[in-house]
Amino acid sequence: MTQFDPNIPSIARVYDYVLGGKDNFAADRELGDQLLGLLPMIAEQAFENRQFLSRAVAWAASQGISQFIDLGCGLPTVPNTHESVGAVIGDARVVYIDNDPVVVSHLDALFAKGNPGVSVVDGDVRDVPAILDGVRAGLDLSAPACLVAGFLLHFFEADAARDLIVRYTAALAPGSYLVLSVIHADEDEAAEESLSMYSSRAAAIYSHPLEDIASFFGRLELVPPGIVNGRQWRPGWEFSKPPRRDNYVIAGVARKQ
Ligand SMILES: C[S@@+](CC[C@H](N)C(=O)[O-])C[C@H]1O[C@@H](n2cnc3c(N)ncnc32)[C@H](O)[C@@H]1O
Repeated sequence: MTQFDPNIPSIARVYDYVLGGKDNFAADRELGDQLLGLLPMIAEQAFENRQFLSRAVAWAASQGISQFIDLGCGLPTVPNTHESVGAVIGDARVVYIDNDPVVVSHLDALFAKGNPGVSVVDGDVRDVPAILDGVRAGLDLSAPACLVAGFLLHFFEADAARDLIVRYTAALAPGSYLVLSVIHADEDEAAEESLSMYSSRAAAIYSHPLEDIASFFGRLELVPPGIVNGRQWRPGWEFSKPPRRDNYVIAGVARKQ
């Protein structure tokens, strides 16, 4: 678990603020406002990501997957993974994983208690064996599962991000899925300034080149339409207003053969 300090913005709480949530503190809101001032589209980016994740896990459930591993799940939001898949199948099991103490306590309080299908693992996703032990306590990894890595891999250098996905997917059964999304920023002044501001105040963040993002899927088989803007992945819905531009939420789903 990371150290709790309300005066230092946390990844999860700043993201919660940008999404309009209430589980954040003054330091998170201050950084969030500064980031939104530099790049107003980050709010749309966050919603585009959440909507992609919700559609993608529901789609995986429609393919017969009933076990979900949500790495770096973030603070509770609407809808959460178990709610998106619960709309498709009644008996889904979801393991939420995060290392932010506020995330873990909120998830424990809201979902894990009294919800037999949901469990919470408090840990650093880089500690793969320990996280997998926690996952196995709630899921049967000899059967297919869906690994969700939403807006997580931009907190790692490309090699480390690739390695994480290789190690987690190696533990999954054939027929499992990977749902993945990352931010991507243009090389312009406002984007550079916002990345550098975020890195110095909250956590190191990287805008990976598109080729690196494609490599995060490794040898898994991409599900059509492939790696696209989040909103273009099997949409079936419309944005209330058009996103300002493309290539801000890079997303895809892939299958382990
Ligand atoms: C931007 S939020 C994304 C939340 C959610 N996955 C989504 O896409 O909406 C990133 C989350 O990853 C968590 N996180 C970042 N690094 C982590 C690590 N090394 N281990 C566990 N969780 C981590 C943060 O605490 C945060 O809750």
